[in-house]
Amino acid sequence: MKILFIGDVVGSPGREMVAKYVPKLKKKYRPNFTIINGENAAHGRGITEKIYHQFLEAGAQMITLGNHSWDNREIFEFIDQATCLVRPANFPEGAPGVGMRMTKVNAQMIAVINLQGRTFLPPLDCPFKKIDELIAEAKKHTSIIFVDFHGEATSEKQALAWYVDGKVSAVVGTHTHVQTADERILPEGTAYISDVGMTGPYDGILGVERDAVIKKFLTSLPVRFEVAKGREQLSGVIIDVDNETGKATSIERILINDDHLFFD
Ligand SMILES: [Fe+2]
Ligand SMILES: [Fe+2]
Repeated sequence: MKILFIGDVVGSPGREMVAKYVPKLKKKYRPNFTIINGENAAHGRGITEKIYHQFLEAGAQMITLGNHSWDNREIFEFIDQATCLVRPANFPEGAPGVGMRMTKVNAQMIAVINLQGRTFLPPLDCPFKKIDELIAEAKKHTSIIFVDFHGEATSEKQALAWYVDGKVSAVVGTHTHVQTADERILPEGTAYISDVGMTGPYDGILGVERDAVIKKFLTSLPVRFEVAKGREQLSGVIIDVDNETGKATSIERILINDDHLFFD
């Protein structure tokens, strides 16, 4: 099974890149399953029902989230009906939504897990203990398990990937909005990248208007963050998984912007 994953989509520039390039990427790579991280899709904060459906129409079959899951209050109105949406599984008990979903793709089942790190992020339940539970549950149904680990620290993301090497098909990092060049297949068959990077403004700071971010660093005063305008980029990975074993056989980075035309 070929899985296309698109990193944190930020605001309307990110949504435009999804609409423009996901069909082209699908034509080029022919993925069987496409996943989009949509935690910043609505003006940089959270996701709306309309955007969720836009992503499905653009060709995604699953949407993952992260620390911005609840930033747009609309989420509470549609998350219970959104069967193609996962939020971090280690949110405290009682949080709406689910952290793992299993979907049939042709004759194969794929489990998609979303988890959030705890280093430089709120103290959630332990993602390591949580993933043990989720893998045990998923393995009853499939060996193809995809994990979006939404975290700040590369060490925490590496640690989780090594912890589950051979037990899941892929651990891809999200959240930092900066793509790392460390994609690889770990020895037991788990595809890994510390961070897929973001999809949206190319000339902002992590997708945000530069002036506000620089002012904040200079003055520590409260500032209003707006999604940056101008040039755009798309970040993703394409991962090939052996249907029988659930082990990854390849991982390729995708980065589309004016300086890195991995794809045209
Ligand atoms: Fe993000
Ligand atoms: Fe995030």
